Amino acid sequence: MPGLFPRWMNVLPTLGALGAMGGGTLAIGGVWYYFTPSFWEVGYMPIQPGSGFNHQIHAGKLGMDCRYCHSSVEESRIANIPSVTTCYGCHGEGKLQNVEEKTAFVREAYETDTSIPWRRVHKLPDYVQFSHQSHLSAGVSCFSCHGQIKGLPVVAQAKSLSMSWCLDCHRNPENNLVPTDRVTDLIWVEEWLSMPPDERGADGQAQMSPQALLESLRRDPPENCGACHY
Ligand code: HEC
Ligand code: HEC
Ligand code: HEC
Ligand code: HEC
Ligand code: HEC
Repeated sequence: MPGLFPRWMNVLPTLGALGAMGGGTLAIGGVWYYFTPSFWEVGYMPIQPGSGFNHQIHAGKLGMDCRYCHSSVEESRIANIPSVTTCYGCHGEGKLQNVEEKTAFVREAYETDTSIPWRRVHKLPDYVQFSHQSHLSAGVSCFSCHGQIKGLPVVAQAKSLSMSWCLDCHRNPENNLVPTDRVTDLIWVEEWLSMPPDERGADGQAQMSPQALLESLRRDPPENCGACHY
C-alpha cells in the first residue's frame, strides 16, 4: 500500500518547524495526516437534488464541452457550477418533452428564481491553495484529477485529493501532461494517457512527447510548502 507512506514523509522534521511558525494546529494536523490513508474520500458521491445531473448524457452522449457549463475553469481558480439559466436554455417550457418530467425541477427553480442546491463533491481544506487555471494552462487534463467524467451518470470523487496525491504528480508530471488544447477532450485523453509514454508523439508529432510537454511548462510544479499553504 504505497499510499500510506508517501515519499514526502522524509520531510516530517520540517512539519515541526512549520508548526512552530504557524501555531500548533498545523503540526497536530500533520500527525493526523500521518495516520490517515490517502484514499480516504475516493468514491464520495452525495445525493443530488431533483433528478440530478447526468454527465454521461450531456458531456458523453450529447458531446457538450466541459466549458459550456464550467465556463470559468480556464480563467479562474474555481470551476463554476452553471446557473439554472444554462439548463433552462434547453429544458425551458415546452422544450425536450421526452425528458419533461425529469427536468421539472429545472423549470421550478427558474420560475421561482432560486438556484438548484447542488451538493459539493470535491473540497480541499481551506488551508490549501489550488487553482484550476494554472493546471489547465500547463496541460493537466480534468481526466487526471476527476476521472472519466464523460462516462459518469453521477459524479463521484475519483482521486484522494491528499497531499501525497498532489506531490506524486508534482514530482513526475511529464507522463500526465497533454497538449493544452486537449485538456477537456476526455475520451482522447484517456486513450492517450493509457499509451506507454515513449509511444506518445512518436508518429511525427514530437512536440507532443512527454518530454516536450514537460519543457513547455511555465515553471516546475512546486514541492515547497509555501506554494500550497500560505
Ligand atoms: C450541461 C452542463 C455541464 C457540462 C457540459 C459539464 N458539467 Fe460538470 N457539472 C454540471 C453540474 C450542474 C454539476 C453539479 C452537479 C453534480 O455534481 O453532478 C457539475 C459537477 C461537476 C463536477 C463535480 C463538482 C464538485 O462538486 O466537486 C466535476 C468534477 C465536473 N462537473 C466536471 C465536468 C467535466 C470534466 C466536464 C466535461 C467533460 C463537465 N463537467 C461537463 C454541469 C455540467
Ligand atoms: C444544450 C442543451 C442542454 C443543456 C444546456 C442541458 N441539457 Fe439536460 N438534456 C438535454 C437533452 C438533449 C436531454 C435528453 C437526452 C436524451 O434524450 O437521452 C437532456 C436530459 C436531461 C435530463 C434527463 C436525463 C436523465 O435521465 O437524467 C435531466 C434531469 C437534465 N437533462 C438536466 C439538466 C440540467 C440540470 C442542466 C443544467 C445544469 C441541463 N440538463 C442542461 C440537453 C441539455
Ligand atoms: C490538477 C487537478 C485538477 C484538474 C486538472 C481539474 N480539477 Fe477540478 N478540482 C480539483 C480539486 C482539487 C478541486 C477541489 C478544489 C477546492 O476545494 O478548492 C476541484 C473542484 C472542481 C469543481 C467544483 C468547484 C470548484 O472549482 O471548486 C468543478 C466543477 C471542477 N473541479 C471541474 C473541473 C473541470 C471541468 C476540469 C477540466 C476542465 C477540472 N476540474 C480540472 C482538481 C482538478
Ligand atoms: C496530474 C498532475 C498534477 C496534480 C494531480 C496536481 N498538480 Fe499542481 N501542478 C501540476 C503542474 C504540471 C504544475 C505546473 C504548472 C506550471 O507550468 O506553472 C502545477 C502547479 C501547481 C502550483 C503552482 C501554480 C499555482 O497555481 O500557483 C500549485 C500551487 C499547485 N500545482 C497545487 C496543487 C495542489 C494543491 C494539488 C492537489 C490538490 C495539485 N497541485 C495536484 C500538476 C499537478
Ligand atoms: C502540491 C501542494 C502541496 C505542497 C507542496 C504541500 N502540501 Fe501540505 N497539503 C496539501 C493538501 C492538498 C493537503 C490536504 C490533505 C487532505 O485533505 O487529505 C495538505 C495537508 C497538509 C497538512 C495537514 C494534514 C491534515 O490532514 O490535516 C499539513 C500539516 C501539511 N500539509 C504540511 C505541509 C508541509 C510541511 C509541506 C512542505 C514540506 C507541505 N504541506 C507541502 C498540499 C500540499
